Amino acid sequence: MTKVICFANNKGGSGKSTTCASIAYAFSQEGKKVLLIDGDMQLNLTLSYFSEDKALEIASGDRNLYNAIKEQKPLTDYIYQTEYDGVDIVPSSTLMSSVEFELFSKWQREFILRKMLKPVIDSKVYDYVLIDAPPTLGCWVMNILCASDRILLPVEASPWGLFGLANMFEFIGQVQELSPNLELLGVAVTKVDARKNYFKQTMETLKATEGIKVFDSVIHLDSTVEWAQDNSKPVGSYKKTSRSAVEYKALAKEILESY
Ligand SMILES: Nc1ncnc2c1ncn2[C@@H]1O[C@H](COP(=O)(O)OP(=O)(O)OP(=O)(O)O)[C@@H](O)[C@H]1O
Ligand SMILES: [Mg+2]
Repeated sequence: MTKVICFANNKGGSGKSTTCASIAYAFSQEGKKVLLIDGDMQLNLTLSYFSEDKALEIASGDRNLYNAIKEQKPLTDYIYQTEYDGVDIVPSSTLMSSVEFELFSKWQREFILRKMLKPVIDSKVYDYVLIDAPPTLGCWVMNILCASDRILLPVEASPWGLFGLANMFEFIGQVQELSPNLELLGVAVTKVDARKNYFKQTMETLKATEGIKVFDSVIHLDSTVEWAQDNSKPVGSYKKTSRSAVEYKALAKEILESY
């Protein structure tokens, strides 16, 4: 059975795209077949696997997520292979900036993505579908959550990183009324600065919050992440011995054990 996990948090820059791209690669290294869906007009997930030229060419063409939504077509027709055996991707488009407008006039507008994804799930080709959400809480992110079985919340180890979580939990609660099978998979703490002890407080606060699982594997700040992104590669492929690559591998194993 194909499992669908989205990476969501309305706090910008919390590590959603980096975590989604890195976990996909780590899953593929564990023998899993993964389909990535880039749900953000910033194209960050697409850029983690494709060069800027290729990402922009796809984004302005007629085979990307925006076209699929506009036409309400099965996502099976919008899948691209990456250079890695176990990782395919539905790339995004900068036109996703008007996705809320596209959805507005559609029937059952919270479930458009779920319907488009169904043929992918029915094909049983993939073990996991991983969806990167933008830092918003509108109808499109509701679509992403309604199409998912589990949510992984990347949280930056900072006071404002924690502050935004209350909104996110409230939003998840609202979506669960529409999609009762949706569950929070867990919180992954990212961008930990080893020089600061605020991280300890972040972990204590999160672990004291009832009803949420906090993954033990945390991701430290590591400049290799940026070099990998500059080279359009997931960090595990760019430098597998780097701190972040090793940490993402551990986080991926923890996720596989729990779901
Ligand atoms: N472990 C890390 N070490 C160093 N830099 C990191 C790390 N993780 C993420 N970053 C950097 O932090 C920034 C935000 O990360 P990312 O884009 O993954 O977050 P996001 O939640 O997807 O952002 P947005 O809300 O804009 O979609 C990026 O510039 C990325 O390169
Ligand atoms: Mg992002």
